[in-house]
Amino acid sequence: MGSSWQRDKKKEYYYKKAKESSYYSRASYKLLQLNKKYKIIKEGNSVVDLGASPGGWSQVALEYVDSTGLVVGVDLNKIRPINEENFSFIRGDFTTDEIQEEIVNTLNEEADVVISDASPSLSGIKNIDHLRSLDLVESVINLSELILRDRGNILIKFFQGEDFNRVLKELKKKFRAVKTTKPNSSRKKSSEMYLVCLGFKSP
Ligand SMILES: C[S@@+](CC[C@H](N)C(=O)[O-])C[C@H]1O[C@@H](n2cnc3c(N)ncnc32)[C@H](O)[C@@H]1O
Repeated sequence: MGSSWQRDKKKEYYYKKAKESSYYSRASYKLLQLNKKYKIIKEGNSVVDLGASPGGWSQVALEYVDSTGLVVGVDLNKIRPINEENFSFIRGDFTTDEIQEEIVNTLNEEADVVISDASPSLSGIKNIDHLRSLDLVESVINLSELILRDRGNILIKFFQGEDFNRVLKELKKKFRAVKTTKPNSSRKKSSEMYLVCLGFKSP
């Protein structure tokens, strides 16, 4: 018998939907909803998916980029099998120089899009989770500045807290348009938000 959280999760609409489809996680529906609205990923794009396991976002990104694009997934954990030729997986911590160098080498060109659904291990305490998430968000932004092409896009998950507006302000200087959003498929009680940053102003 699982915990009540596990039972709620099992009953939940997007969890069931993912189980019935070939998507590896309910998170796939978040990316589908966000991309439908904001056109973050387009056909032919090179996409880096940070915090990719079990692989739901990478599956959706591969559908959008089609056979002319490519997707590089990165995670501390293993990913479920994705056999498309234009998909590569790097296992490791994307905040480290070693893994960032591997991402650059695997891409072999600038990225059009960086997406990050990376989550720290969550304590359930809002401020702590916000600070843990802040470290990841700052790493995603720094890495994006290294690998993103001019006018490229990023999508980042961020747990809300006191630094949220400061980060938002910084992103508004680096991108032509920045939106904060929470797709319907994101659980209402979660403090997660998504930052959609379009049109990178490459220095
Ligand atoms: C919510 S899951 C991602 C779900 C994924 N978007 C999907 O659709 O299947 C968050 C992931 O972030 C990963 N993660 C957290 N910190 C990381 C880091 N520093 N480097 C690589 N992966 C990280 C975790 O291992 C976890 O698998």
